[in-house]
Amino acid sequence: MKRNKKIIVANWKMNPALSEDAKKLFSKSVKLFEASNKVSAIICPPFVYLSKFKVSNSKNKKVSIGAQDCWYERSGAFTGLISPIMLSDMGVSHVIVGHSESRKRGEVDDVVNKKMLAVIDSGMTAIVCIGEEKRNDSGDHLTFLRDQIEKNLKGLNKNNIKKVIIAYEPVWAIGASFAMDPHSIYETSLFIKKIINEKFKILINDIVVLYGGSVDSSNASSIIKESNVDGLLIGRQSLEVDSLKEMIESIDR
Ligand code: PGA
Repeated sequence: MKRNKKIIVANWKMNPALSEDAKKLFSKSVKLFEASNKVSAIICPPFVYLSKFKVSNSKNKKVSIGAQDCWYERSGAFTGLISPIMLSDMGVSHVIVGHSESRKRGEVDDVVNKKMLAVIDSGMTAIVCIGEEKRNDSGDHLTFLRDQIEKNLKGLNKNNIKKVIIAYEPVWAIGASFAMDPHSIYETSLFIKKIINEKFKILINDIVVLYGGSVDSSNASSIIKESNVDGLLIGRQSLEVDSLKEMIESIDR
């Protein structure tokens, strides 16, 4: 994946319900991403569709395949779970961990941390989701974010931190009507980069922070251009081909 491009993570969540629709959505999305000059994509379908989707392995590829979650053990008695090694074996290169919808189902920071380390150990990149539940003028969200970063990135070093992408997703903006405003995204993503820069002694330019939460065709381009994030994590609107097209074209302009 080229670092001079903006990254779009298409998080399909538990959609579409039928594999025929998933195949159509995948091929249309790939065409749109391949036509773009400024965007590279990580499409994250539900596990059951992963084996159906193949992407080119060329150095300049614009589309990669991601998974939406995993467990942290390699194999064993873990009914219903999928291990990082299984995902990597299927050609998956990225795995989302710590999505707020998983945290709502009971996933704690320690488990997010173990999953992140297991993803990296299997040679893939971890997309670690962080974000505050609410915001107020006292700035408590900054303390919350610092603590989440400390706990979720525990055990990393200067080298393997490069195998992590941070998706900053304020929980209150996910599945909502409005995204966060670009200026606040700018400030918060810089705050996140600064903490990681100080903690791991890695250049700000080598840290990748995406924004996620109610991104759509009306705000994608301004978020990218005004907030200086490295890309977007898109949920609902990654399922709408027309909207996806508008978002990509607006970023390309
Ligand atoms: P949304 O979801 O774009 O539908 O708000 C974002 C996400 O996957 O967290």
